[in-house]
Amino acid sequence: MSAAAIILAAGLGTRMRSTRPKVMHPLAGRPMIRHLLAACQPRFGRIVVVVGPDMPELEAAVAPHDVAVQRERLGTGHAALQAMSQLGGHAGDVAVLYGDNPLVTEATLGRLLAARGEADLVLLAMRPADPGRYGRVVTAADGMVERIVEWADADDGERAIGLCNAGVVCAASADLFRWLSAVTNDNAKGEYYLTDVVALARAEGMRVRAVEAPETELRGINSRAELAAAEAELQSRLRLAAMDAGVTMTAPETVFLCHDTRLGPDVVVEPHVVFGPGVTVEEGAVIRAFSHLEGCAVKREAIIGPYARLRPGTVVEARAHVGNFVELKATTLGEGAKANHLAYLGDASIGAGANIGAGTITCNYDGVHKHRTDIGGGAFIGSNTALVAPVKVGARALVGAGSVITRDVPDDALAIARGQQSVKPGRGFKGKKG
Ligand code: UD1
Ligand code: MG
Repeated sequence: MSAAAIILAAGLGTRMRSTRPKVMHPLAGRPMIRHLLAACQPRFGRIVVVVGPDMPELEAAVAPHDVAVQRERLGTGHAALQAMSQLGGHAGDVAVLYGDNPLVTEATLGRLLAARGEADLVLLAMRPADPGRYGRVVTAADGMVERIVEWADADDGERAIGLCNAGVVCAASADLFRWLSAVTNDNAKGEYYLTDVVALARAEGMRVRAVEAPETELRGINSRAELAAAEAELQSRLRLAAMDAGVTMTAPETVFLCHDTRLGPDVVVEPHVVFGPGVTVEEGAVIRAFSHLEGCAVKREAIIGPYARLRPGTVVEARAHVGNFVELKATTLGEGAKANHLAYLGDASIGAGANIGAGTITCNYDGVHKHRTDIGGGAFIGSNTALVAPVKVGARALVGAGSVITRDVPDDALAIARGQQSVKPGRGFKGKKG
């Protein structure tokens, strides 16, 4: 029988000072709860997330997993008990995890489950550089865990213990729910502590063991500063994975990735590049400094930036160039096409080899609707052209600089739409009088 997991996420996250549920705060582009679910899914056949009564956004984010609602927030032990109707009859192990500990890896969860072979109750523990207000793990001389004491209830001697509770426990379902049902709220905070199951297990003569893992995986997130520290940890994992897969990063510490950023081999990412969700960059492409990409695909050997912005729905085909201060939205830039300077291309399709001059703007929005611009392959759009959509410019067409194009231009045609220059001899600037 595979193990099941209960993830506690009903807390208000008071220390975040936010109207959002704590576990919905994003890390590397997705809510922290989804990182934890991703680590749990391969290890647990069933997952129940304990949510608060007023968290529709969170319920949607954890779908299709089951939820149990904790109507009153009476503590972590009480929260775990809310999953009893779903998992009380589970024939295998049940683990309890905290939604605000999202950095734990699948490998560490595997070690925890394996340790159940030697103990009736197992838990994850760490030795943080600063143990702060974590619960302390009290062990006996033989290494067996005796109990966990919460910081608020600990005396000075207990606070001096370096081994801290990470907030993951695992036991047979029947044992776990029996102990949870016996937890009381007789403590400094008046809460039902999940951590009290350890002493209850020991009172029954059961064996309790701690599995240690690095702080970088087990740190909890209770404040914005801890959220930033967790982001830094995830970013460094993502950068290392990208470099291991053959990506060159000149200054990796300045590049920000998303959990789903896909970078092919021999991609070069220059300093200060930000990847939002949904970006794929194919082999040999170069993302130059200070570019921002989200929801887009960059094909082989394309060059992006410096200072480019690619917005959702954009496809930059092979060997195309997007230069400085160019923004693309829902636009396909054809193979080998170039938009090298100062342009906005939105809701557009641009053929292979086309050249988009500096200052070209697709006027795609009339205040109510968005309209498309189609530019054929090999077309040359002169500088400072306004393309008033919906409009089509044919293949190999030439548009004169400074044009405002409001009607379709056929293939191979020249279009110029600008005021005529007039020259009046002798009427030049005479300078100030007096
Ligand atoms: C908890 C542990 C502490 C451990 C630390 C690790 C307890 C009593 N203490 O403290 O030993 O060192 O985590 O990070 O368990 N939650 C609910 N319902 C509640 C209360 C909390 O669902 O009524 C959820 C929260 O959403 C959160 C998790 O349980 O995801 C942990 O709660 P939190 O208040 O953050 O506990 P800590 O003080 O961090
Ligand atoms: Mg916490």
